[in-house]
Formats: sequence, structure tokens, C-alpha cells
Amino acid sequence: MKNNNFKIAVFAGDGIGPEIMKEALKILKIISDHKNIDLQLQEGLVGGIAYDNYGTPLPDSSLELALQSDAVLLGAVGGPQWESLDYSLRPERALLGLRGNLGLYANLRPIVAFDELLDASPLKKNLIQGIDIMIVRELTGDVYFGKPRGVKKGKNGKRKGVNTMVYSEDEIRRIAIRAFEIARTRQKNLLSADKANVLETTELWRDVVTEVGQNYPDVTLKHMYVDNCAMQLIRNPAQFDVIVTTNLFGDILSDEAAMLTGSIGMLPSASLGEKTALYEPIHGSAPDIAGKNIANPLATILSAALMLRYSLSMPRDADLIENAVTETLKEGVRTQDIHQPDKKIIGTEEMGNHVAKNLRKLLI
Ligand code: IPM
Ligand code: MG
Repeated sequence: MKNNNFKIAVFAGDGIGPEIMKEALKILKIISDHKNIDLQLQEGLVGGIAYDNYGTPLPDSSLELALQSDAVLLGAVGGPQWESLDYSLRPERALLGLRGNLGLYANLRPIVAFDELLDASPLKKNLIQGIDIMIVRELTGDVYFGKPRGVKKGKNGKRKGVNTMVYSEDEIRRIAIRAFEIARTRQKNLLSADKANVLETTELWRDVVTEVGQNYPDVTLKHMYVDNCAMQLIRNPAQFDVIVTTNLFGDILSDEAAMLTGSIGMLPSASLGEKTALYEPIHGSAPDIAGKNIANPLATILSAALMLRYSLSMPRDADLIENAVTETLKEGVRTQDIHQPDKKIIGTEEMGNHVAKNLRKLLI
């Protein structure tokens, strides 16, 4: 019998997190009511708000909640009031702690240009029309987790900062396998971005990705240095189908690629491991616009759609949410980040309501 009872950990986080999460939950509720599935949403604290309440950005209770859930939905963390804290206490550590402890090594960042938003992109329309790129970012290795790390005083009394770029071949192999599998379901073109001309770690990356590729003769594998990849993303983004890359390079390339679509406020992400998975918008907590009801909730709503697709085996419902977002954009309403001169600016909550209305129509 199909499982229709799911435990979802909900971490709204900081800044605009609570506002955008509210809209995503509204959309999930429509799906759960309509499809008669039981989504047990359990809210917990992570990030700056968790630090304020518990003195740590990732309290044990939140980690435990995440570990026991089928999926985690997260808003955003961080804000200026926590920036002076020690690294170990900063809100961002919650994300890294969740990624590390849940073993979420594969971060999928789909970069899809909505036709309705082509004018919102800083790039020329003809460059971005129809782009559909999947960035597969390794998420639990590299300088993000490598040791030694830290700032230490050297013998000469001067400080020295150290981070370690490290990948084992097993770590590379598992993310490469994920990327090839994903490429297989798409245009069968995989681009691996590295810096093998300078960094031995990514020379190993290149070797292992090539080895894995021997099991996927149907997928065309290419390698590109990451600096060139950054340039090509702007020069001719349509050449890319799936891009697989390291944690740090993926962080940078995905923000860059996000702008192709007009606004980082549109992009969802899925972080997958062996057991559970985490879904979050790729934008941050945007403290400057928090609490003003002007943030764009669409990336979080689209993250909830990814959750239905990848964790709850409900791909058709994920499609419906994505279609409801497209319909909403067609209506001509926009949050301010994706505003165009002839369109109507609406707030966070109104945007959620529009998507909800369009979803209900599609569900009939
Ligand atoms: C992201 C973010 C995080 C990262 C930060 C907030 C730790 O930029 O998810 O891309 O660097 O991974
Ligand atoms: Mg980032």
C-alpha cells in the first residue's frame, strides 16, 4: 500500500524565512487536503533564532527532529545581529550541521528560465530562453568540512587562516553516480567543473568522474575548468544540461546561474542523502526586507514541490505546484524582486494566495 503518512520537519529560520515558509505550507496543505495524505508538519528552530533561544544554531532537539523525518523543509538562516558570533555559533552552522549529520551529499539546484520572467534577467532574452540546467553540487565535503581549519597564531605572532580542500574518491564517486543518473533522465549531457589544472584534489575529481562515466556510455561527459564554466554560463548558458561540481565551486556557480533566471528568489533546491532529504530556497534570509511582506515566496513553494517529487513520490503533484506558479506568473503579478514595468507588484502573502488559487483550479 502506498504510504500516505509523512513526517516533515519544518525550519522556517531567520529573516524572511517565516514569511516565505508560511506560503509554502499553505500550498502543501492544499495538496494534503486534496490528496488525503497526512503530512505531519513539525516545526523546529534552527539558525539565529535557535541561537537566541537555546544558545546554539542547531539544537539537539532540532537535529533529532530532522533525523526522524521523511524530509526537512527549510526557509533561510542568518542575519547581521549574529555576524559577530564565533564561527561555531553562527546561524550558517545549522545548515552545515544538518547537511553533515543527515549525510546530504547531493545538492540539486535546477536553473529553469520561466518564459514569463525572461525580461527580468539582466542577460539578453535570446541567451536565456529555454535554459534548463541542473546543477549537482557536492554538499558534505571540500573546504566546507575539511580539516585542519581555523585561524591560528603562527610562531611569528601573526595570524594564519587555514581551510583544507579534501575529497576522497568514494565521496567523488557517489556524487558522480547521482549526476550521471540525473543526466540519464534529461538530455544526457554531463559537464563536470573542476580546477584540475591547479588543484590536485580536483585532478582526482576529474579522474573519478571519468571512471564512473565508463558505466554510462549513453551520457556524454565533458570536463571544464570552473573559471571557464563561470564564463560560459553567461556567454552561452544553453549549452549546459547537467553540471556536477564540488561544494565550493557549486556554491558559486549556482548563485551565478540563478541570475540567469531573473531572480535568485525563484530557485528551489533539494539536498539528498541516503535516508532523508532537505529542501530549501537557494536565496538567503534577506534581513533587509524581512517582516515587510515583500519577499518572494516562490522559491520556497517550488522547494516544497521538489519535496513532493523526490521524497514523497508525488511527482504529479509537484508538477501541479510548478504549473500553478507558471499560471501565477502568467497572470502578471510579481513580487518586487521580479518586477517588470507593466506588471502588478504584490506582497509575499498575496503571491502565496495567487499560487493557492491557481493550484486549486488545477486540482479540480
Ligand atoms: C548556500 C549558502 C550556504 C553555503 C551558506 C549560507 C552556508 O550560500 O546554500 O548556497 O555556502 O552553502
Ligand atoms: Mg550559496
